[in-house]
Amino acid sequence: MGILKFVATGKALPKKIVTNDDISKIVDTSDEWIETRTGIKKRYFCEEESCNSLAIEAAKEAINRALQKDSEFDVLKIGLIIVATTSGNYAFPSTACMVGKALGLKGSVMAYDLSAACSGFMYALQNAKALLNEMDKKYALIIGSEELSKLLDFNDRTTCVLFGDGAAATLVKLEDREGISYISSFSDGNDEDLVCEGVGEENSSIKMKGQAVFKFAVKAIKQSVDEVLLKTGLDMEDIDYVVCHQANARIIDFVKKTYEGHEEKFYQNVGEYANTSAASIGLALDDLFESGKLKKGMKIVCVGFGAGLTWSAGVFEI
Ligand code: COA
Repeated sequence: MGILKFVATGKALPKKIVTNDDISKIVDTSDEWIETRTGIKKRYFCEEESCNSLAIEAAKEAINRALQKDSEFDVLKIGLIIVATTSGNYAFPSTACMVGKALGLKGSVMAYDLSAACSGFMYALQNAKALLNEMDKKYALIIGSEELSKLLDFNDRTTCVLFGDGAAATLVKLEDREGISYISSFSDGNDEDLVCEGVGEENSSIKMKGQAVFKFAVKAIKQSVDEVLLKTGLDMEDIDYVVCHQANARIIDFVKKTYEGHEEKFYQNVGEYANTSAASIGLALDDLFESGKLKKGMKIVCVGFGAGLTWSAGVFEI
């Protein structure tokens, strides 16, 4: 079936940085409460930017880096653009179609948005792997982009402190060679614990039962990691990094204790960006690649979980 190779990554963040102290001027909270409960130090909020503009900027950065790294790559070889998002500029056209337009790919690319909340990036990777098998073109642009600030209720201090805006893009290629890229995704219909009303609803905002979501998250991560390791015949000894959706440092801290001796492998950057939903795994991958931490031959596990409820995990060989 071929394996997915990460060719290059890119990211885009709004200019406006919002610290916990800034948030405490809007709602009754404090830097100390937010950081202790979540690990979050700051987030970015769109002003001039939008979900679409961030997606385009991140895509362009990934493409520019790919052009330097991969002599075979050409923008016209991209057959598929998937944007994982729940906060696109329009109900339609999709953000992915607007990315295609910005890249000059009018008429030559399949493009669609994918709604799986914070699992969206992983769902998109699994979609890409399956679809690229069907296509002549073997490159796909996978983007997670979110402008969640427009979906926050700034009267709900338990929820509004948790989220931020941002985008991350990963250019992937389906290669016909030995290697590992296994992804599996699941859902469990639930519109009680984590929900946001959709198109046409006035004042749509994210509503969440924090403790129920916390319990779901730790269970979903543990189950997903164990399942993909079992399916690929690997164990934690073989894994160099575990990249979880960055919702909350306490969720990751809780899970990593169950993998004694491997705690250091659980990457965390939620402090820098807060929860950027579909963008967070891509942002983590971009940080890992750009800091030189991810090297050829390494194996990583990525895990998404979120509204739906949805969860999805994959093992990849870099
Ligand atoms: N600042 C200060 N106090 C706050 C607060 C804030 N931002 N938000 C809530 N509080 C208060 C509550 O009012 C409550 O006060 P009380 O004891 O006087 O009633 C107290 O803090 C505890 O509230 P609780 O909701 O029980 O907090 P918690 O320990 O469950 O932490 C979350 C709340 C949201 C941080 C936690 O439930 C969580 O991380 N859940 C997972 C959320 C998540 O990651 N979702 C996305 C998944 S994709």
